[in-house]
Amino acid sequence: MGSARIVVIGTGYVGLTTGACLAGLGHQVTCVDVDEKKVARLAAGQVDILEPGLEELVSRGLSAGRLNFVVGAGAAVANAEAVFLCVPTPMGAGGAADLRAVEAVIDEICGVLPAGCAVITKSTVPVGTAQRIRAMLGRVDVPVVANPEFLREGTAVADFLNPDRIVVGSDEEQAARWVADLYTDLAAPNVITDAASAELVKYAANCFLAMKLSYVNAIAELCERLGADIMSVTEGMGYDRRIGRSFLKPGPGWGGSCLPKDTHALVQVAESVGFDFSLLSAAIGENIAQRDRIVAKIAGAVGGTLAGSRIGVLGLAFKAGTNDLRDSPALSVTAMLAAHGAEVTAYDPAVGGELPGMRIVDDPYQVAKGADAIVVLTEWDEFRRIDWSYLADLMQGDSIVDTRNLLDPQVVLAAGLTWLGLGRPRARVLAR
Ligand code: UGA
Repeated sequence: MGSARIVVIGTGYVGLTTGACLAGLGHQVTCVDVDEKKVARLAAGQVDILEPGLEELVSRGLSAGRLNFVVGAGAAVANAEAVFLCVPTPMGAGGAADLRAVEAVIDEICGVLPAGCAVITKSTVPVGTAQRIRAMLGRVDVPVVANPEFLREGTAVADFLNPDRIVVGSDEEQAARWVADLYTDLAAPNVITDAASAELVKYAANCFLAMKLSYVNAIAELCERLGADIMSVTEGMGYDRRIGRSFLKPGPGWGGSCLPKDTHALVQVAESVGFDFSLLSAAIGENIAQRDRIVAKIAGAVGGTLAGSRIGVLGLAFKAGTNDLRDSPALSVTAMLAAHGAEVTAYDPAVGGELPGMRIVDDPYQVAKGADAIVVLTEWDEFRRIDWSYLADLMQGDSIVDTRNLLDPQVVLAAGLTWLGLGRPRARVLAR
């Protein structure tokens, strides 16, 4: 298709990436947000979130005149052919998704939408939302389409431009096909289906990833108890094409703005139709247990009691490549350490300012000063390049707890430190 007139509502990492990438594909895009200051910064080409390639795409879109930013959805949609809803759907009471932001937008645009303009949900929304939006709009001339995103934070632009698949669902097939055509240049397989199926694809995919990670974390724990090495176990599993090699790294638990919220929401949705999704509930429980096990491991590394110990933390973001702290396992672990009476000093290359229960410093060596143990909680590549001998001299104790299996244990051990990873009991000894 040629260029379409598109409005994207919400400029978080999903909305902004969607808007900037659609403009990059040649469409005419207006991005809307309620935050006036943010809109002014974006209109000046300033991007606040850490997303490689995004700032450049925004500037290109702005200077090509294909991207602009405004406050107020009502006026923006008056001339649109498609409206993408990219507003937050946080976890509400009882774990269900909170749809108030979506509802507020529908309220605002309902009377202004031109006939034939497709209303498209991009944020993860509960199954049945497209139908609910249709009912709220009460307009037979406006098709509603579900087109979930599969963007990972930190690689959102690359994920948008090289998708594994494009999923589009609507109860009006023609509208679904039209929306899929917006992405023709991306040459990805298309899954065109009904709205409920498209909505469920997103949950089913994210929850499957969460279960995969809980499973791997449990296998890592078994490795510790059985004397096996998780690196070899996951390598051996990953070559099986039915399993795949990605999402097999153990860690301090899965977090971020999506997996925790989506797993709870799907358990809730299942419950609402009388299905006890115990498999998924167990994965959530395992994720809580993983954080407890990490804290116990750190306690063990400082002689059994955290009270009065000094713990240095490397990494606070929920994963490397982002400054996002939402539902970060690192924050849960540091909060638990502080609650047990540990004094926590932390460094993260992308996080500054102040956070409760810890002192934030500017480099890993300040973290090490007087520390009894150092804990790696986010897998930032720069931590691999730390001068471990210099760091060892600054520490009071000698334990490095590597909850991401990020470091080369031999390098750490050679500096006279002890290394404790996850599921790697054999890697704790220096090779001779
Ligand atoms: C996730 C999905 O991966 C995206 O496909 C989806 O579009 C997005 O949610 C969303 O719903 O919007 P994201 O939250 O950015 O993306 O984070 P992931 O890269 O999936 O990581 C999630 C968590 O799993 C992080 O805490 C990460 O550290 C952890 N993880 C990931 C591991 O512990 N091990 C791994 O091997 C991979």
